[in-house]
Parts: sequence; C-alpha cells; structure tokens
Amino acid sequence: MSKRVAIVSGGIGGLGSCICMQLAQSGHSVIALDLTASESRLSAFREQVAGFDVQFEAGDVTDFAGCGALVQRLEQRFGSVDVLVNAAGITRDVSLRKMRPAQWADVLRVDLDGVFNLTQNVIGGMIDRGYGRIVNISSINGQTGQFGQTNYSAAKAGMHGFTMALAREVARKGVTVNTVSPGYCDTEMVKTIAQPLREQIIQSIPVGRIGQPIDIARAVDFLCAEGSSFITGVNLPVNGGLFISF
Ligand code: CAA
Repeated sequence: MSKRVAIVSGGIGGLGSCICMQLAQSGHSVIALDLTASESRLSAFREQVAGFDVQFEAGDVTDFAGCGALVQRLEQRFGSVDVLVNAAGITRDVSLRKMRPAQWADVLRVDLDGVFNLTQNVIGGMIDRGYGRIVNISSINGQTGQFGQTNYSAAKAGMHGFTMALAREVARKGVTVNTVSPGYCDTEMVKTIAQPLREQIIQSIPVGRIGQPIDIARAVDFLCAEGSSFITGVNLPVNGGLFISF
C-alpha cells in the first residue's frame, strides 16, 4: 500500500516541525504547510528535516479558498490526504482591558478559523475514501484559561468543541478527530513570556521540566496511527502534570 499522506499546518514551527519528522518516521509522506518563510528560516527547516519524507508548501490557513486549492493540488499529486494535524497557532498576549480588536481577531483567525478552513477542505475526501485522522493542537491554556490570553484561551477551548462535534459527524466514516493539549514546551512561543514568569511556570510543572516538542509529537503520532481507530473526540493533555483533571 502507498504511504499515508499527512498535512501539518504550522509545519515549520516549534511543535510543527517535530510533528512532521515524527509522522514521517512512522511512514507518512508529510506536507509541512506554513506561511512563506524567510530563506534562512526555510533552509534551517530543510536542514532539520533532511532525510525525512517531509516537503514544504507555502500557504495561509486564514485563506479558505487557498486551503481548498492546496488540498486539491495535493489530492491530485498523491491521490489522497489521509491525515491532518492543525498545529498553526499564534499568540497576542495582553489583558482584555488593553486588548485591541486586531489582537483578538488575529488569534481567532489563525488558531480557530484556520482549523475550519483546512478541515472543511479535507473532510469530504476523507469521508469518501472511508479513512482519516485529524488532530487539533490546542493548549493547556484552553483548558484552564491564562492571564493575558482571553483570545488564545477562547480559540483553544473552541478548538476542542470543534473536535467533539466533528468526531460525532464522521465516526461512522473511518475518520477520527482528536485534540492534543500541550502544556509549556521549549518553543519560541513560550520564550516570548517574560523570563521571571516563565521560570515560575516551569518550576511549577510536576514532572520537573519543560516539555519538549517530541513529547507532543509522540502523542500526535499515536492518535494518527491506523490502530487508533477506536479513539475519537478525546482531548489528550500532554503537560507534565501541570493540569491534572478527570
Ligand atoms: N497573573 C496575575 N496578575 C498578573 C499577571 C499574571 N500572570 N500578569 C500581570 N498581572 C497583573 C500586573 O501585576 C498588573 O497589576 P496592577 O494593575 O495591580 O499593576 C495587572 O495584572 C496588569 O498587568 P499588565 O499591565 O502587565 O498586563 P498586560 O496586559 O500588559 O499583559 C501579560 C500581561 C504580559 C499578558 C502577562 O500576564 C503574561 O505574560 N501572561 C502570561 C501569558 C502566558 O502564559 N502566555 C503563554 C504563552 S505560550 C503559549 O500560549 C503556549 C501554550 O499553549 C502553553
């Protein structure tokens, strides 16, 4: 059988690039979808994924028609898109009192509308072929709320609502839809938190360390496996015990 084809949005980002390599290692042909990057960032990414079956495609998850055209091109080239990991995300941290409409809208457009724009364009093919794996990368801060993140927490909580609803719609079609909620990981996004607060957060993680992208990538890969067909609609927290709940 030919390889399963996976799209990872935010594919050259901190978590995205590691997810791409992990999925490639487990036998997928991977498309790393991301905004057009600077030549230096792109060549660093290409160096990182050298030897893995990972190809870069430039695209903007906020552009519904663009996502549709990309999916169509990939389906023509590979025959199918079997796996979608929605990992594109941004932060614009600021307390609500000071938040400008653009800081709200930018986060919602990328982090939540982006999930709709890609998923809506892949779901028909997955249903028709009777197979699909969708994983949405949410956040511990969608589960708990975070000071300065009304925009991000709303988008990330909304993402799991989307997961649960879509999981029901496609459960009989061989398509699973799940969420992974990372805690604080060693990425550029987390490095933007002011150092004293960042230190405080890291010290409060029960396992005693910050997460690594591979911690998240392993969880995503597990949910994307063919054998994970009985797991759908779940939220899998990967946070070192920072938020433990039922
Ligand atoms: N907790 C409690 N109080 C806080 C606070 C916090 N985290 N941050 C600020 N405050 C207080 C300030 O002391 C200040 O108090 P006073 O009015 O009494 O002086 C008040 O709140 C307002 O503070 P600021 O004017 O500094 O607030 P701000 O709007 O400029 O922004 C902030 C504050 C920079 C957003 C800050 O709260 C912060 O860094 N929060 C954490 C954000 C965070 O964790 N982001 C995660 C990014 S990584 C990620 O998101 C990945 C993932 O999925 C895990």
